[in-house]
Amino acid sequence: MSTQKPLVLVTGGAGYIGSNTTLQLLDAGYDVVVVDNLSRGHRAAVDPERLREVDLLDTDGLYRVLTERPVAAVIHFAAFIAVGESMKTPEIYFRNNLAGTLSLLTAMVRAGVKNIVFSSTAAVYGMPDVSPIPESAAKRPVNAYGETKLMVETMLDWFDRIHHLRGICLRYFNASGADPLCRAGESHEPETHLIPLMFEAIRSGKPMTLFGEDYPTPDGTCIRDYIHVSDLARAHIVAVESLLAGGPSNRYNVGTGTGYSVMEVVAAVEHVTGSPVPYSFGPRRDGDPPSLVADSSRLQGELGWKPVDSDLPRIVDTAWRWFNRDR
Ligand SMILES: NC(=O)c1ccc[n+]([C@@H]2O[C@H](COP(=O)([O-])OP(=O)(O)OC[C@H]3O[C@@H](n4cnc5c(N)ncnc54)[C@H](O)[C@@H]3O)[C@@H](O)[C@H]2O)c1
Repeated sequence: MSTQKPLVLVTGGAGYIGSNTTLQLLDAGYDVVVVDNLSRGHRAAVDPERLREVDLLDTDGLYRVLTERPVAAVIHFAAFIAVGESMKTPEIYFRNNLAGTLSLLTAMVRAGVKNIVFSSTAAVYGMPDVSPIPESAAKRPVNAYGETKLMVETMLDWFDRIHHLRGICLRYFNASGADPLCRAGESHEPETHLIPLMFEAIRSGKPMTLFGEDYPTPDGTCIRDYIHVSDLARAHIVAVESLLAGGPSNRYNVGTGTGYSVMEVVAAVEHVTGSPVPYSFGPRRDGDPPSLVADSSRLQGELGWKPVDSDLPRIVDTAWRWFNRDR
């Protein structure tokens, strides 16, 4: 007989990674309440009974949700995530991601909720000079988005030291793929991520731009570490479990340790879909490192997590099935 596990509050649960993680928490027997203002998420991604439409900046509203029923831990996904946008309007990134998280932490302290898992990013490393990247690598963000995430990590340190609020920061590399049962997947608006953009190009026939073909990599295109959203969701569950067992604050990279070039992703997408990807090359984008590959041995060693769904064909296959779900 399965017993109900504690209540977890998921912010940003109407978004891509939050909706996938909510499903896995429920599958694992946790109770879940979702906070989302639906600014960038999808109402249909959340069971209406679990959704509380509250903005992160509404500290009193968050406090009410945190005290409706005892919350054991918060998983904090809610944020703006587009690097390019953050370099045009940094003010909305500092407000939403930094001030929004401060509001959440303030409400948590008031409500006496002491555990948080935070969505951080490989963007905290900027242009790393080591590969694979360990957590100890220099943190030098090259965009405002990455800076907001690094500032939240620093804020969490102080909340731990002063309020004993323990936080695990998970630095994701390239989240990708969809729920294998096709219950949740990626639908950003506008989309900026490579695999769904390739699907859009196949559907519309309009060539997409691939940025840079002269990087110092074997085929000249950027190399990234693609982590399946189901593996990412599991990383959140092991992080929550560590905190609930009394484990300490920490930071972990979440990736596979294997990088794929843009052209390798093109080949995988063409193989899975059976269609050529229409593309043309454009210039490099500012601040795009040639290669971003995670060393996630700390997460594997300390919390016993390992990626099991992240081989590229499986990532592309699940994402393609999600992309075609209504057709
Ligand atoms: N997608 C990736 O590859 C990736 C990589 C590294 C880190 N991350 C981080 O993971 C988290 C989730 O990313 P995602 O791809 O699921 O993004 P997403 O845009 O799909 O989801 C974010 C959700 O947060 C909600 N939200 C935003 N601001 C809010 C606010 N002020 N109040 C309440 N809700 C708000 C949005 O409505 C949306 O549902 C983000 O913090 C992002 O920075 C994502």
